[in-house]
Amino acid sequence: MTMTQSAAIHVEEKTGVFHLQGPGMSYVMKVQEGGYLTHLYWGRRLSRYRGSADVRYEDRGFSGNPNKEDRTFSLDTTPLEYPAYGNTDYRDPAFEIEWADGSRVSDFRYKSYTVQKGKPALDGLPASYAGEAEAETLIIELRDELQQVSIFLRYTVFHASDALARSASIVHEGGEPFVIQKASSANVDFRSRAFEYIHLPGAHNRERDMVRTPLGQSRAVVESRRGSSSHQQNPFFALVRPDATETSGEVFAWNLVYSGSFLASAEVDQFDGTRVNVGIQPFGFSWELSPGETFTTPEAVLVYSSEGLGQMSRTFHHLYGEHLVRGSWKHRTRPVLINNWEATYFDFDEKKILEIASRAAEAEIELFVLDDGWFGRRDDDRSSLGDWTVDERKLPDGVQGLAEKVKEAGMDFGIWVEPEMISVDSDLYRAHPDWCLHVPGRRRSESRNQLVLDFANPEVRAHILEQLRTLLAGAPISYVKWDMNRNMTEIGSPVLPAHRQQETAHRYMLGLYDVMEKLTQEFPEVLFESCSGGGGRFDPGMLYYMPQTWTSDNTDAVSRTRIQYGTSLAYPSAAMGAHVSDVPNHQVGRTTPLAARGHVAMEANLGYELDVTKLSDAEMVEIRDQVRRYKEVRHLSQYGTLYRLADPFQTESYATIRVSSDRSEALFVYMHRLAEANAPFVRVKLDGLKPDAVYSVDGLDRAFGGDELMYAGIDIPVIEHDFQSHLWHLKEVKA
Ligand code: DGJ
Repeated sequence: MTMTQSAAIHVEEKTGVFHLQGPGMSYVMKVQEGGYLTHLYWGRRLSRYRGSADVRYEDRGFSGNPNKEDRTFSLDTTPLEYPAYGNTDYRDPAFEIEWADGSRVSDFRYKSYTVQKGKPALDGLPASYAGEAEAETLIIELRDELQQVSIFLRYTVFHASDALARSASIVHEGGEPFVIQKASSANVDFRSRAFEYIHLPGAHNRERDMVRTPLGQSRAVVESRRGSSSHQQNPFFALVRPDATETSGEVFAWNLVYSGSFLASAEVDQFDGTRVNVGIQPFGFSWELSPGETFTTPEAVLVYSSEGLGQMSRTFHHLYGEHLVRGSWKHRTRPVLINNWEATYFDFDEKKILEIASRAAEAEIELFVLDDGWFGRRDDDRSSLGDWTVDERKLPDGVQGLAEKVKEAGMDFGIWVEPEMISVDSDLYRAHPDWCLHVPGRRRSESRNQLVLDFANPEVRAHILEQLRTLLAGAPISYVKWDMNRNMTEIGSPVLPAHRQQETAHRYMLGLYDVMEKLTQEFPEVLFESCSGGGGRFDPGMLYYMPQTWTSDNTDAVSRTRIQYGTSLAYPSAAMGAHVSDVPNHQVGRTTPLAARGHVAMEANLGYELDVTKLSDAEMVEIRDQVRRYKEVRHLSQYGTLYRLADPFQTESYATIRVSSDRSEALFVYMHRLAEANAPFVRVKLDGLKPDAVYSVDGLDRAFGGDELMYAGIDIPVIEHDFQSHLWHLKEVKA
């Protein structure tokens, strides 16, 4: 699709129609009689909405009527923008409020709207951003007059993306405090059930499998209750038409810009409508709002594609690259790093680190990252989290001394921290046993021998921030890996009163975002990579603060094809850390060639994570060659436009191509899992190239037409062994 048309918001006051246009999509709402805000259409761009999708009404049994004069009108059969429960609609509500009188019935009707250029920030929350020339925002006010409460629904359309950013604010102007039990970021009521849903379930070391499931007349739920977005589910959810593929068909996708517990659900109703609801997890959540206060939901990003999943992903990638990631690293070339975790685990000293660093420098690696174990007395995972001062037994010259020596060896220096955690065996815990999440009188369940600090407590945040400032200011540190290695339990905070305990998990997230905002603003040149035991918090909320995420602790090349494929559904390559590690692989025991490990890692932010001092000279030459080659192509690996070509969940092949914005060059990566005797040939059709251009393919020393490569495809050399892989740099040449 050529996106020549830009976004616009059309409001027809006479008919009550709001028509939001992206370059290739439209989203239409209408205020119905009685002031109900209904949803009419989301799909391919309409030049103008003239009423073909207006709501139809029939008298339906067991669907009650708010207006007794009209038996055909029921909220139960009306597609609504931000529905409530209790007024004839029996479907899953977008929000629930418990009023001071104990009732939960509310009645929000349309009151007003405003349109503005650009996009307002969400106070204290990560969110996409856009300048006045890049987007337009519609804000609709719904009002419950009895309670004197307004809900403001925000919709931003972007000129260059078929994406819609949505959030809601509940503003209390009434008399008595009330309690929000649920507040979704977005609700969409489709009048169709012809969908399957796609989500990204998984586990630690097996993140983001791509799973596609039909919908039935029931409610499909994708959620996390772990206090983080989680390895087990990702806050990505899509409805696809049953005929949709990678390259064709309609896709409607949601991604929540939030790193805590979330809920996405799709409910098919009795009349073949589908209601999708996305937002903060209502289970274990409530929020008291007093007069004069506002509660704002996290943002949900909605993406539409009429050209399959590939186009959906490219829309997310572009949006996140241009309108979510911030700071000096937004478009900057990411360095090749070496991390000592799988090389040494906790068992290292300065000598060992410098041996690894100097050998890595010879291979022209650019950044050394010192992982876990450098602080307190942390010889294993049982102690010291919270005590962010150097262990001089291991590093006698401190972090500063080590960092300077690493720099002398020719590399930049980076460091690992896990600021949200506390070990029971730590000076911090001995001084402040109440600084962790806990419920008085109850056991404090440990996980990986650690507890979670109470980031809802401003004193805790200030203390941790100060330690991090001292660390970063005290040494030449140019990279930080921010880890988080357990999920929440006994979610309670001693600084909150009893009736606010269910606010703890969300207040924790707001506190975490506050610390990350301050730290990243104070150290703008530092490259931050977030991590949660690998990809346990790979979400857009984190990307707003930290432009990279450690994709998975699983560094096996075969596992990585699936993990990176699933991750790429929503997240851009420049966000993904990908490392070459040792064999047999530490997570799955598999032995793959160094070439395959390199090729799969070279399609994102390349790193190494193995003891290079134990490698042969020949292996070190191969690594140096990989690094040199990567430096030639990394602008494509990190910022090229991604086309997925072969799906490792369905076939033995994995193939991707990343194309430059002018389409004059591209990076093709291929890996074949298991070889077979007498195997059929494998041919892959490339994508994203200029059909009328000719491209040299360096891996083959040949040149082919873009049309040939895309329409006829290209044969992969005969598969002679397991895990055979290729990385080809295509460059446009004169025909
Ligand atoms: C989990 C991370 O994902 C690993 O890369 C490593 O940093 C360990 N934590 C250290 O404890």
